[in-house]
Amino acid sequence: MSNKLLLYNTEIVIEDYSFQLLLNFIQSIRPTTVFILVDSNTKKHCLPILIHNVPILKKSYVFELPPGESMKSLKSVEDICSFLLQHNVDRNSLLINLGGGCICDVGGFVASIIKRGIKFINIPTTLMAQVDAAIGGKVGINFDNNKNQIGVFKNPDFVFVFPSYTHTLSSDHFLFAQAEILKYGLIYDELFWIKVKSHKHNIKSILSQVILKCIKIKLAIVKSDYHDYNKRRKLNFGHSIAHAIESVFLLKKQNVSHGQALSCGLICETFISYKMFKFSDDILNDIVETLLDFFPHLQLAESYDTLLLKYLKNDKKNIQDVYNFTLIKGIGESIVNCKVKDKIIIDSLNYYRKICQI
Ligand code: GLY
Repeated sequence: MSNKLLLYNTEIVIEDYSFQLLLNFIQSIRPTTVFILVDSNTKKHCLPILIHNVPILKKSYVFELPPGESMKSLKSVEDICSFLLQHNVDRNSLLINLGGGCICDVGGFVASIIKRGIKFINIPTTLMAQVDAAIGGKVGINFDNNKNQIGVFKNPDFVFVFPSYTHTLSSDHFLFAQAEILKYGLIYDELFWIKVKSHKHNIKSILSQVILKCIKIKLAIVKSDYHDYNKRRKLNFGHSIAHAIESVFLLKKQNVSHGQALSCGLICETFISYKMFKFSDDILNDIVETLLDFFPHLQLAESYDTLLLKYLKNDKKNIQDVYNFTLIKGIGESIVNCKVKDKIIIDSLNYYRKICQI
């Protein structure tokens, strides 16, 4: 299967078997030098597959970062820039980001600033990055324990999605990425929600189709509001609470993946939506039971609530002190810029604890 999509001038190819279209693109731009950004996981598991399939990349310069969110830092930007400059990067050089969301974010950011911008390709290797982070042109880094505070909008020149790279993922990583996939159904497409739900035990059998559908939904939303002032915020359903959870866990030095935090954020924000838009109990139960069935629950201590509210206040979408959430009016219909009060947020966290019997 091969599928091509476009976001402005960026071609996005979802290709199961062959790297030919990637090779064609690289040859068409004739880069002076090629750099590949990896982390230790993708260096071991994904780079050999890439080089085997595109042997001209053997001559590239490879720069490795440690895996994980903490490398999305100014220090990594400096390290990558130094490496590129040592190897005579010029404006016709190409940077290939081979990795998950963090690699695509930091690599895209470097490519957008070094020499005032060079070409870059995203090759997302995680399911999460294939359906979200590698697509849509948001690039950047974390700052001061807050996520994605420094960055720009810059589309990659080409995105190559190779679904089989997901075979290199741990089962947890693969599972929690499905929170992002289910989110697309909730915000945009009820039939897709039903389809993913019914494939809980065999999602791998329809993986390429699922990735393609998520990217199509993301492109439709991004094209309506590229710079994220309005409709693009639909993509943020579940994320206000998820990002606050990630920040509190980071502070407490507890591990939580983005997908795991999102599985909890989706339930809490569904509860807030139910209270505010008064949809039926059947819809609430369908969503919550599905999410609880997919994902193990998160231990969310009540003592974290004050901190969670504090981090929610830092959300980039807020203006002054009002919480600005994306909510749903039912399955497949989302609404942005909803004003939400402290009390209902705390109620939603308590609801989560109650249904998980924490
Ligand atoms: N990941 C959310 C967005 O691209 O807007």
